Amino acid sequence: MGMKKVKVRVPATTANLGPGFDVLALALRLYNTVEMEVGSGKSKKKLQIDIVGEGKNNLPRDRRNIVYRAAKLVFDRFHFAPRTLYLKLINRIPLASGLGSSAAARIGGLVSANRLCGERLSREEILDLAAEIEGHADNVSAAMAGGLTVSCISSSKGRKGREIEILKLNAPENLSCVVCIPNFQIMTRRARKILPQTVKFEQAVFTSSRVAMLLAALIKRRYEFLRMAMEDKLHQPYRRRLVKGMEVVFKEALKAGALGVSLSGAGPSILAFTASSPRSCAERVGEAMRRAFARYKVESKYLVLGIDKQGTKIV
Ligand code: HSE
Repeated sequence: MGMKKVKVRVPATTANLGPGFDVLALALRLYNTVEMEVGSGKSKKKLQIDIVGEGKNNLPRDRRNIVYRAAKLVFDRFHFAPRTLYLKLINRIPLASGLGSSAAARIGGLVSANRLCGERLSREEILDLAAEIEGHADNVSAAMAGGLTVSCISSSKGRKGREIEILKLNAPENLSCVVCIPNFQIMTRRARKILPQTVKFEQAVFTSSRVAMLLAALIKRRYEFLRMAMEDKLHQPYRRRLVKGMEVVFKEALKAGALGVSLSGAGPSILAFTASSPRSCAERVGEAMRRAFARYKVESKYLVLGIDKQGTKIV
């Protein structure tokens, strides 16, 4: 076996960016860390989990914990049964808020366990596993690779048809991400259930035109196109009923100078891009979003975050 102790840092992610449903995601400079130790003196119990920060009072600290469950998948694959296992989770990513907390937890568990097993899984294999347990590939791809990722589930490979193809693009320069986080949670499962089985051809064409324009605008740094390019007719129109005030928050963010705005992942957080300087520009947009939510009696806070370029890192 490999080493006995590992520490892994995983970034938050914002998925979809509007029209890129299940395909696009961006890693953000907000991190969870997972410390994992086998056979340590720290724990007399077979499994001990300490949690600091987000979820410290309500996340499970037993075998139901999703970091542990992801790690267990790797241990089982290599028939590794540690006598004791100690996990310390330092969580900065808000839970069930559309910022990839579950993707970060799963990647953190898989990568840590893989390290302890001697790096026997490749990054591709880890990503495939992560996407399979997560149910979609966008957050886990950006969390793993960092930057802006395009990921597709290949239909031609594998028995389950699940193999992730991923391309990482250079992270867009000179952009800040303002993330406004309301004080309620949405489970992604629920936010996916409300999506329709079929969409009209016109909605599909509208959305695919935006996703193409979005990538072109980011690559060519033509940020004046972002406003249009982040429009979407695949998922946001259906999710607005889960996020009270969503459209008004969008409108106020744009009015305050945002370059483009979207639901972050499945919500309820809302992402706005702004120029990275002056900083006051991002603050103004954040304040505008917070005030717009408040009009709907929704309390929220905002964070101004840079783009993470490194992805998951052993620290
Ligand atoms: N693409 C996923 C969704 C992201 O929108 O359901 C969830 O974070």
